Amino acid sequence: MSTSELLSPIMSFLKCETPDSWVEEAIKPENLPMLIVDHLICELKAAQSAMFLIRKYAVDKDSANTLLEWLRPFEQYIYKRTGDWRDLAAKNTLTKAVIPKSDSRYGQALIDKMVMLIKEELHHFYQVLEMMEHYGIEYRSVGSSRYAKGMLTHVKTHEPETLIDKLICGAYIEARSCERFAKLAPHVDPHLGDFYVSLLRSEARHYQDYLALAQSISADDISEKVEYFGQVEAQLILSDDSDFKFHSGQPA
Ligand SMILES: [Fe+2]
Ligand SMILES: [Fe+2]
Repeated sequence: MSTSELLSPIMSFLKCETPDSWVEEAIKPENLPMLIVDHLICELKAAQSAMFLIRKYAVDKDSANTLLEWLRPFEQYIYKRTGDWRDLAAKNTLTKAVIPKSDSRYGQALIDKMVMLIKEELHHFYQVLEMMEHYGIEYRSVGSSRYAKGMLTHVKTHEPETLIDKLICGAYIEARSCERFAKLAPHVDPHLGDFYVSLLRSEARHYQDYLALAQSISADDISEKVEYFGQVEAQLILSDDSDFKFHSGQPA
């Protein structure tokens, strides 16, 4: 599948394109270290949110603990600055089979999609570390942008709406990331650009997985919800944002 074939459903899903002003800011060489580290942290957060969904909605307590152990070395690398990043590639494996809760109707589908997604996000995490090594970029602490939080504040507080809304937010985050990698790829160093293009395929699938899960869990058609979160997301992308990040709005 070509890049444009991959992107076309994403472009019709998203309510707006990334503004040129964001791209211009993002390709300034002085912004590269922050953007790469922000990207690194986003890969971990993508894995963590998917993990949270499995632990909360699909598995028993023992499996939930096994899953936590899986993420720990990656989290420790970021939050405690411990461990050698080169060792992380070998740690991206699940050691025990994940067992679904018997009372969860959509448990197995959630596990199947999310375990695969987590593996891929952790692989991306490792690949971003390789890029940092390649470009001599040191880890630094980078705070969260307003983006994910800006969507999650609109999530309903009762089930199953909470889960459905979170999955829709996940779909938008994945789709936007995919769109931004495609926007950046032609303007950055070819080695980094090739890496961004290599990410498109999995991020495009992740957005579809999130959306399909949301629809399979909901008893009603989710189009209205998808539309609603699409407007919220576009607002975050198109409005002024003084905190420049990978998912920020118009640079102000
Ligand atoms: Fe990723
Ligand atoms: Fe992803």
